[in-house]
Amino acid sequence: MTDEQLVELAFEAREHAYTPYSHWSVGAALLCSDGTVYQGCNIENAAYTPSNCAERTAFFKAIYDGQRSFAAIAVVGGPQGEPAPEFCAPCGVCRQVMQEFCDPNEFRIILGRSGRPSKTYPLRELLPEGFGPDNLTTV
Ligand code: THU
Repeated sequence: MTDEQLVELAFEAREHAYTPYSHWSVGAALLCSDGTVYQGCNIENAAYTPSNCAERTAFFKAIYDGQRSFAAIAVVGGPQGEPAPEFCAPCGVCRQVMQEFCDPNEFRIILGRSGRPSKTYPLRELLPEGFGPDNLTTV
């Protein structure tokens, strides 16, 4: 699975987005260490707060299935029904969910866009000094 293939799967996932309020559709493709890919889309709600981002949809599907080791996630997003020429970076809540399950030095976040090269960050660059399970080892 190449990064560009993962970005393509994120674009495919974006087609599933439920975005009647923001009209901003996002797709994610999460690559597990065993090679399995989980796709996710954002799912909005009339009460707004219960909305779920594409990244967390992908993670929660994978976690439910018993996956616990992850290599990378590709994310694409933009106005519903249009190409996504700009990067769509994960929100803070999604970065925190990644911190729970991923090594910040190893896990890669691939930001894709339509027709232009993607950009990749390790999680530690998008969530510096993140608080995760290792911080609770004295409890
Ligand atoms: N959203 C995502 O799904 N992922 C991101 O990386 C950024 C934002 C969603 C949340 C909401 O449904 C819509 O995009 C507008 O914020």
